[in-house]
Amino acid sequence: MSQKKWWQNAVVYQIYPRSFCDSTGSGMGDLQGIIGKLDYLAKLGIDAIWLSPVCRSPQDDNGYDISDYRDIDPLFGTLSDMEELIAEGKKRGIRIILDLVLNHSSDEHPWFVEAKKSRENPYHDYYVWKDGVEGEYPNDMRACFGGPAWEWVPELGQYYFHQFSVKQPDLNWENPKVRQEIYDMILWWMEKGVGGFRLDVIDQIAKEPDRKITNNGPRLHEFIRELSRETFQKGDLITVGEAWGANTENAKLYSNPDGSEFSMVFQFEHIGLDQIPGKEKWDLAPLDFLKLKQVLAKWQKALHGCGWNSLFWNNHDLPRIVSRWGNDGEYRVESAKMLAALLHGLQGTPYIYQGEELGMTNAGMADIADYRDIESVNLHRERLEAGYAEADVMASLMAKSRDNARTPMQWDDSENAGFTTGTPWLKVNPNYQEINAAAQVDDPDSVFSFYRRLIALRKEYAVFVDGEFELLYAEDPDIFAYTRTTPEETLTVLCNFHGGEAVLNAGPKDPGELLLSNYQDVQGDRLRPYEARMYLKRRTAGV
Ligand code: GLC
Repeated sequence: MSQKKWWQNAVVYQIYPRSFCDSTGSGMGDLQGIIGKLDYLAKLGIDAIWLSPVCRSPQDDNGYDISDYRDIDPLFGTLSDMEELIAEGKKRGIRIILDLVLNHSSDEHPWFVEAKKSRENPYHDYYVWKDGVEGEYPNDMRACFGGPAWEWVPELGQYYFHQFSVKQPDLNWENPKVRQEIYDMILWWMEKGVGGFRLDVIDQIAKEPDRKITNNGPRLHEFIRELSRETFQKGDLITVGEAWGANTENAKLYSNPDGSEFSMVFQFEHIGLDQIPGKEKWDLAPLDFLKLKQVLAKWQKALHGCGWNSLFWNNHDLPRIVSRWGNDGEYRVESAKMLAALLHGLQGTPYIYQGEELGMTNAGMADIADYRDIESVNLHRERLEAGYAEADVMASLMAKSRDNARTPMQWDDSENAGFTTGTPWLKVNPNYQEINAAAQVDDPDSVFSFYRRLIALRKEYAVFVDGEFELLYAEDPDIFAYTRTTPEETLTVLCNFHGGEAVLNAGPKDPGELLLSNYQDVQGDRLRPYEARMYLKRRTAGV
């Protein structure tokens, strides 16, 4: 393995700013709210915060539609609040990772406003255009949030291409001027002292709509290598590329240990397992546990020594894991801890999405009027128009909507979970009186304390970073077990993934010292519902 990097034993915490903490009573979280909670995060022990976008934006897609990359949206505060956050984070050893949305901008970005003025405008080529006739789309490509991927601009007699909403026109990476603007902007943020970048849908920048190519376009890695060389490689950053289209082969490029692209890849193969292959994410597939084991094991094996993965169950685009693979009723606490142990024992850099460390659950809102997410609202409309039954559409949303994980952070049991003194932009999950940070931070048995311990273990034992992965019980329908081994240590993780009992009838015989468990005691070979155990065996000289 090449030289160790600091981010290999780091743990990243993702903040969705609008839902984290509101310091003004606006109903919307903000940067000062985050600053006020840095001590909480320092207590948890994390090394870096990935901040979902806070730059100026019309908020069509909650900030993933940026109209000024060098300013903060007034909803969240000011540039000087950002500078304060960076400085206050530094004091606590917490780096700030910015979310860079480089595939597209907002249609309100001055570049696009100019681009639309005429075909001769110097900014016209910053975006992707196609001549045509009104009503006859250049091709049948669809946008991720519904509708055609082409939008007609009558003044120009042209369509522009957008992979997301109509307010998110795709930037034209073929144009070297666009790339240079982006590099200058990134260097500007690096000078401000940010600790790294998360690259939004980076696998889609090299699109070729003429050939209906969206992700993994032919020039993708050429663009990324240039981006990295011109910017990231000039600092000691953590960089993570979001790539829905990643496979184990191209992941080795994204996360090449020579540093030519990013520090790590953020890929979704394990997440896609609850979707019917070839269908949309709303078409729910039954969970296939054996497949989950195979997929996670495959990635562990494939990247060992030649790449680096992100480890995550949750983010702002996904439902809460405890409501999907875990049990958000009777065994909420046990299953939240089990899922954490399973993930944090793997090789890669763990990501914790806000509230995950409390075992927060899906919002599961039954009324479409309570949803705010553009994807969910569009889906509801489109599917009803297409003749789906309302109940089926709502069942999909309750399971998969991005708003499930976007409800406000649950700080305490006061009104609105202590998130805001105003009216929250999205309803608080009604279970906040039971599930909240105040009830957990000082409780040694809480989900929070369990996460804290997992983070501390990663700092203590090198095997968490280096150990080679081996799957145990590959065919067992309930047990997820594996080892991680270095010449000096073996970490063994044993998990019961389900709500019944499971028996460890094939060992391991002597896994060593018990590091962590989510039950008060250990009952031999018997794993109780969602039980998780982590053992460490040290090999001393001569043994
Ligand atoms: C990424 C973001 C998601 C956003 C999309 C478009 O997948 O995580 O929230 O809607 O890109 O920017």
